[in-house]
Amino acid sequence: MPAARSPRVANPWSGRFSEAPDQAFLAFSSSLAEDARLVREDVLGSLAHAATLRDAGILTADEHRDITIGLRAVLADLEAGRAQLREELEDVHMNVETLLGKYTAAAGKLHTARSRNDQVALDLRLFARRHLLALAEAECALADALLAKAAQHADLAMPGYTHLQPAQPITLGHALHAHAERALRDAERALDAFARANVSPLGAAALAGTSYPIDPRATATRLAFDRAFENSLDAVSDRDFAAEALSVCAIAAVHLSGFGEELTLFSSPAYGFLRLPEPLTTGSSIMPQKRNPDAAELLRGRAGRSMGALIAVLGTLKGLPLAYNRDLQEAKAPLLNGLPYCVEGVRIARALASGIEPVPERMRAALLDLARKHPAFIDIDVAAFAPDRVPARKTTPGGAAPDRVREAVKAAQRRAKELASTVRAHAQRIEAAERALLQA
Ligand code: ARG
Repeated sequence: MPAARSPRVANPWSGRFSEAPDQAFLAFSSSLAEDARLVREDVLGSLAHAATLRDAGILTADEHRDITIGLRAVLADLEAGRAQLREELEDVHMNVETLLGKYTAAAGKLHTARSRNDQVALDLRLFARRHLLALAEAECALADALLAKAAQHADLAMPGYTHLQPAQPITLGHALHAHAERALRDAERALDAFARANVSPLGAAALAGTSYPIDPRATATRLAFDRAFENSLDAVSDRDFAAEALSVCAIAAVHLSGFGEELTLFSSPAYGFLRLPEPLTTGSSIMPQKRNPDAAELLRGRAGRSMGALIAVLGTLKGLPLAYNRDLQEAKAPLLNGLPYCVEGVRIARALASGIEPVPERMRAALLDLARKHPAFIDIDVAAFAPDRVPARKTTPGGAAPDRVREAVKAAQRRAKELASTVRAHAQRIEAAERALLQA
């Protein structure tokens, strides 16, 4: 039986083919489901590239103007649903160029001195950098929420655990500050990954650069990248930034899962140390006594998918020769799904953190009273060893003593503020550049 053929569509490479592609292969090889989320990125890259072509004298001023107006119209059409991406055109790059053809006869010239290989790398970097900043921002906000609660409960004694066995008394503030430190490191990691993602690959063309006299650094500046690529082979094939972004996400997700587990455990009736904010819990249809900690459980459970996204990308990259290989398309879905998925989790963790309410009497009841339980303590000042007074004696820097916790919380709050302002500065610079390209 002959394979089903799709209708013949003229795309940039159909000229040398006499047969239309196999229909099942088209669906198999399409990246349109993912690419639908890269329309804005793709148009931004094309706007910057068009300006570079104009500066190189490849586009006339009129052609540049028509292409710019056309690209903005294509974006508006796609966003408003007046135009749709077509599967026969494989990806967002060919779709945007084809749609541009309706607005200007110069559309075909836009592909001069570039390739879909540097385009796709560009789109993914634009996507990654935006979401890494969103992740850093969300982690700072989570840290702020945890630190506010930590300051409030710096004196509230609770059992500290090792092996999940009551070990030594600590305070709730001490524990919440521990989670805040993790969030701050995750924010820092997101910013580190941002620095390496924020490099423009445009101008690398298919793999070797181009013989047209364009300046990749000018394109990079237009898109508010820190710099342009150093090697064209590397530029089109490097997906380190995706692996790195997803590794930041995986670590962050693992942190959230530990936090989710503690909230689940400590809010359960068996412990009863905490009450979770009601809007982030659910009830049971047949067991009215229950209040289920679903948001906390999902934080615990979602780490699996975040770790999977990292492994999926690394598995795709492993063993690839230089330079662009179609395999790289498989790194798209984990990145495009994984980053927003992680940011969403951090935002929910923040809502949980700011809504938890401790139940001091339950914490007090669970504290191990050494002075009463062990005969060796018979001759000492029993009052000094009352469990809720023990943390105050842990006065080493970083220890459980309330004054130490208050100091550490203040230092962490300063760090969160500095990080958040770094994130804002990057975001503002990028937004200004993108706005300049997108607005008439
Ligand atoms: N759809 C491809 C991807 O997502 C775009 C690049 C294709 N390049 C090529 N020469 N076939 O990776």
